[in-house]
Amino acid sequence: MEKNNGRRVILFPLPLQGCINPMIQLAKILHSRGFSITVIHTRFNAPKPTSHPLFSFLEIKDGLSETETRTDDNTWLFTLLNRRCETPFRDCLTNLLGSSSDSETERISCLIHDSGWTFFTRSVAKSLKLPRLVLNTYTVSFFLNHFALPKLRREVSLLSQDSEQDDLVQDFPPLRKKDLLRILKEKREYLEPYLNMILETTKSSSGIIIMSCEELEQDSLCKARDAFKVPIFAIGPSYSNFPASSSSLFTQDETCIPWLDKQEDRSVIYVSFGSLISMTGPELTEIACGLRNSGQPFLLVVRVGLVKGTEWIEAIPEELMAKVNEKGKIVKWAPQQEVLKHQAIGGFLTHSGWNSTVESVREGVPMICLPCIWDQFVDARLVSDVWRVGLHLEHRIDRNEIESLIRSLFSGNEGEAIRERMRLLKEKVGRSVKENGSAYRSLESLIDHISSF
Ligand code: UDX
Repeated sequence: MEKNNGRRVILFPLPLQGCINPMIQLAKILHSRGFSITVIHTRFNAPKPTSHPLFSFLEIKDGLSETETRTDDNTWLFTLLNRRCETPFRDCLTNLLGSSSDSETERISCLIHDSGWTFFTRSVAKSLKLPRLVLNTYTVSFFLNHFALPKLRREVSLLSQDSEQDDLVQDFPPLRKKDLLRILKEKREYLEPYLNMILETTKSSSGIIIMSCEELEQDSLCKARDAFKVPIFAIGPSYSNFPASSSSLFTQDETCIPWLDKQEDRSVIYVSFGSLISMTGPELTEIACGLRNSGQPFLLVVRVGLVKGTEWIEAIPEELMAKVNEKGKIVKWAPQQEVLKHQAIGGFLTHSGWNSTVESVREGVPMICLPCIWDQFVDARLVSDVWRVGLHLEHRIDRNEIESLIRSLFSGNEGEAIRERMRLLKEKVGRSVKENGSAYRSLESLIDHISSF
């Protein structure tokens, strides 16, 4: 830990678990390098200040109603947040800068906001003469190419040939045409103006911070440097010395760990679908059945709200539940990073959120990808087609397919080869965040960049 350098950084995360975790992780990294930290956050999905006593937290009003917070359409939710938070954010930042200008010992260096805060961060920071950096919580490949989605939507009829479904999308590698069709099916109001705002806000920033590294996405990083023309700091994925688990919005069920302690090494399949997606009761039943039939012990996270219209796991029939309990454990929320680190874990059936993906790579756990929305399709292709450290559940959720993929991952020759590639990737990424690795050097440049403001 370096001593305080007399500079404060203001962080402004988007209020979703998958966006709060990397922002808090970044806060911990910057704090360890001597920066003081203030987190401005909305009332909706507010992080817990008591979990981070070394940071200051300032809540702003977001004006969201209960019904609005329960929407499935994230672009609409982000649009509402962007419309309603401008004045509270401006007031909060103006007050902060006002009080800091009276201080002789500390000054505010910059604002770092999630790339999803687009409507006002640029103008507010500019009017207050505050340098501004953007944190992107997606893969570089997705972030770079997703601006083409409205154009691809207009061309979608060209993609409907069955024989071409497996082809790569030229403008969006490593996505295949069938993935693109699924992304474009998602209900997303206001997509085009929202993406245009993200592009403008990012291009006019003083730099982009990305939780990825050259070892994972070299080509995309190269193209992104060309496209955005601002410094890009690929500071590496999921630092194990700065775990994000303390920023959990849900209560973690710690009983998983003693349960894992009783299982054989590399025998358990961990199953989790992150904080956003939902599925139907029959889909959850298919998953529970596939897990049970695979014969492997499993730890399944069923978040409250995962199955719409139910309290929790009542969609799983009683007679199946009795069998499920013989081999498995179901919890509402797990300490995921601790779980992935545990020696009992041998595989991860995941929705392929970027945080889950990099956490799995960090711990060298091979994956079975079941992407459901948005960037998850790109993450899944990186895992299964580019790095080849996992399998891909491509079709509908089906018990036989789940069973067969788990068997291949745990016992087949293919599983063996995947584990070996994952071991090598884990080592490569591990070296990247160590002294003189690419992510390490990028972090040093970021620190220098912020210190130069
Ligand atoms: C969302 C998108 O789905 C994702 O694709 C995007 O990259 C970020 O925003 P989310 O769906 O929550 O995120 O998935 P993910 O990115 O994997 O983040 C989930 C976070 O919650 C991870 O840091 C994970 O460790 C944590 N988690 C998840 C737990 O701590 N416990 C759990 O039981 C499940």
